Amino acid sequence: MGWKLLLTFVVTLTSMLSVFGAPSTSLGLGNQSTEKYVFAHFMVGIVGNYELEDWKVDMAAAQSTGIDAFALNCASIDTYTPTQLALAYKAAAEIGFKVFISFDFAYWNNGDTAKITAYMQQYAAHPAQMQYKGAAVVSTFVGDSFNWDPVRKGTSHPIYALPNLQDPAEATTIASKSADGAFSWLAWPTDGGNSIIPGPMTTIWDDRFFHFLEGRTYMASVSPWFSTHFNTKNWVFICENLPTLRWEQMLSLKPDLVEIISWNDYGESHYIGPSEPNHSDDGSSQWATNMPHDAWRELYKPYIAAYKSGASAPTVEEDKLVYWYRPTPKGVVCTGDSLGAPNGISMLSDSIFVATMLTSPATLTVQSGNNSPVSINVPAGITTSNVTMGVGDQRFTLTRGGQTILSGRGGLTVQDHCTHYNFNVYVGLISQSS
Ligand SMILES: *[C@@H]1O[C@H](CO)[C@@H](O)[C@H](O)[C@H]1NC(C)=O
Ligand SMILES: *[C@@H]1O[C@H](CO)[C@@H](O)[C@H](O)[C@H]1NC(C)=O
Ligand SMILES: *[C@@H]1O[C@H](CO)[C@@H](O)[C@H](O)[C@H]1NC(C)=O
Repeated sequence: MGWKLLLTFVVTLTSMLSVFGAPSTSLGLGNQSTEKYVFAHFMVGIVGNYELEDWKVDMAAAQSTGIDAFALNCASIDTYTPTQLALAYKAAAEIGFKVFISFDFAYWNNGDTAKITAYMQQYAAHPAQMQYKGAAVVSTFVGDSFNWDPVRKGTSHPIYALPNLQDPAEATTIASKSADGAFSWLAWPTDGGNSIIPGPMTTIWDDRFFHFLEGRTYMASVSPWFSTHFNTKNWVFICENLPTLRWEQMLSLKPDLVEIISWNDYGESHYIGPSEPNHSDDGSSQWATNMPHDAWRELYKPYIAAYKSGASAPTVEEDKLVYWYRPTPKGVVCTGDSLGAPNGISMLSDSIFVATMLTSPATLTVQSGNNSPVSINVPAGITTSNVTMGVGDQRFTLTRGGQTILSGRGGLTVQDHCTHYNFNVYVGLISQSS
């Protein structure tokens, strides 16, 4: 790892401490009297060919996980955006799901007020539009300095603007004051930009949002993973226990709203949606094909329910194991990859991760490749454990009082060779019914 990155982080941390005087703990500053909702970020840019039925398949899967709405990430350059928005709103209305637009300001700009207002005017009162406190939710990716007042004035239905702020301190700017709150994109351990820092994830950025928003609505982000391998961006964030850790943070922080990043961004390997055939391929099939993440929805479901009810821990009704691991140890050199290994991988461990979802304490045993089996006593509830990765098959067993309750083999064999670097993870479920 670069010591420079660590230094950057320490400097950032120090300057933050000087803002606050002392490290702040997570006080749970969210407004508990208001209804809680969970959204998922949906990339419209890869579903130009979607039909109504495709939307319904995705929405039904989201709904059964407890997700209330999709944040529809729209670029301004895609000619199919109007068509796909119309289909999304129609599908959501038909199955009782909700959606809202998330304008992607990598493509929109501050001069697009008229076009953004026209979209809001078209959809703000739609039956499938996500409403919060009686107003139509709208969000962004970046777009920090966009003024929402003219959009509000130009839309006959009230709007509730939750733009992404890249730096929580921007919440004090005039542009931000035209919004109703803010959305954080800082869902992974970072120094605030795209610099890779060691894990685990902390709530330092959430605490800053609470501080600077001064009671306005905070939409926090939750993500299970981050790995990308394009020639324009080639790095990992250190997310190994993030699938459960981030939700535990949400249960103690109790932010007003949560948005999961993402439903279908295969490029950054943080999708939780089902594999579906009809999205277009931006090149990410190289690391996302045959790498299911569905079991993360099983893991997220009790956390989402707990977050919405204000509980401090998830309720588990059935014993399950959710595991995730990479296809190769980090030191393996891939033979056919001109891009080189992603930045940050030296900070990863070579581990197999297992989240036990238990109704009462039990013993988890993992045999990773030819390594000796490792047994770990795990408590009731949801706990993430890890064992050292061994090349070969991955076997998982759960015992309680000498009885085997669950056992199964991981869906992917860890290899000691590769053609292309892949730091995405295979996510699987072992349950009575799987
Ligand atoms: C919580 O939200 C409700 C509904 O918007 C509002 O009336 C109340 O003042 C808020 N309470 C706090 C402590 O912010
Ligand atoms: C996906 O595309 C296939 C082939 O074009 C089509 O038959 C199917 O209806 C589409 N939708 C779903 C949900 O599979
Ligand atoms: C793996 O588990 C050990 C023992 O509980 C823990 O100390 C370590 O932080 C875990 N590693 C990761 C990357 O989560």
